[in-house]
Amino acid sequence: SSPLPIFSQDEVTKHSSLEHGVWVTYKGSVYDITEFVAMHPGGNKILLAAGGALEPFWALYAVHNQEHVLEILSQYKVGEL
Ligand code: HEM
Repeated sequence: SSPLPIFSQDEVTKHSSLEHGVWVTYKGSVYDITEFVAMHPGGNKILLAAGGALEPFWALYAVHNQEHVLEILSQYKVGEL
């Protein structure tokens, strides 16, 4: 399998809305979570992280500190920072 593309933070930041796509970063990887937004158990709060890092939000909402949450996230990986 070919390696995933490398994206700049600038490219990630451009994807900050449902219209332009919702991308986030986590531990150096980039995720396109556009399709997941409507399925998020925590509702539209997820959009606060759009175009940026999940870490500060997941530090506040420790419900994400579970293996099953990381499994969901991994399905949306599109590249590396
Ligand atoms: C709950 C996934 C981003 C706020 C959850 C749950 C999942 C999830 C699976 C349910 C966990 C459980 O109860 O076992 C994700 C994913 C995210 C993301 C995959 C990013 C791609 C965020 C962000 C915020 C947030 C950025 C806040 C700014 C919440 C809150 C809940 C929650 C408040 C609790 C909802 C409730 O139980 O009433 N999230 N989340 N999430 N999430 Fe997220």
